Amino acid sequence: MKFFIDTANLDQIKQAHDLGVLDGVTTNPSLMAKEGIKGPKAITAHYKAICDVVDGDVSAEVISTDYEGIIREAEELIKIDPKIVVKVPMIYDGVKAIKYLSSKGIKTNCTLVFSAGQALLAAKAGATYVSPFLGRLDDISTEGINLIAEIRQIYDNYGITTQILAASIRNAMHIVNCAKLGADVVTSPLDSILSLLKHPLTDSGLAKFLEDAKKFV
Ligand code: E4P
Repeated sequence: MKFFIDTANLDQIKQAHDLGVLDGVTTNPSLMAKEGIKGPKAITAHYKAICDVVDGDVSAEVISTDYEGIIREAEELIKIDPKIVVKVPMIYDGVKAIKYLSSKGIKTNCTLVFSAGQALLAAKAGATYVSPFLGRLDDISTEGINLIAEIRQIYDNYGITTQILAASIRNAMHIVNCAKLGADVVTSPLDSILSLLKHPLTDSGLAKFLEDAKKFV
């Protein structure tokens, strides 16, 4: 399973990259706004800076909601770097745009997916990635993780190659459960990735080993 980081924060991207586990990055307009990035030049420069750190795909989201606008934005985004994947919302014009972009060999990530039907449609349109949002389903008292299982089953039934990119990850348990269910990629905030490191028995075991080491070093 590939690990993507879900942030536009360069320091966090560098930290995940330094750990040696980073396969890609996903961003969205909210994450870009959080970094205080404003205006076309700054946006382009920021995506380029992310691409320069990462060895893998970098999702950059369009903000147009009409077909022509999405295609226009996509064509600008892919000029930034070959690592750019065009992130397109699961709406009528978005699906049409994914179909067109995939026919041109342009990688796409269909975002804001909350049902298996949406995931099926994204795959039919040729999306490279589909992004089901687990955490936001959990937020409305639905088992978000079940959606990963449903999509996996449907894609496997037909040998669909669209990659399941589990998104809206909130904790290490989400990551582990996605891995158990066969998600192709998980995109998560840095703290969820780092919390995979943690176990109290690791901490207490290491403390004891280091204490005992003083006896013979
Ligand atoms: C990823 O592609 C999404 O933009 C992201 O995971 C959304 O996460 P959130 O629900 O924590 O905002």
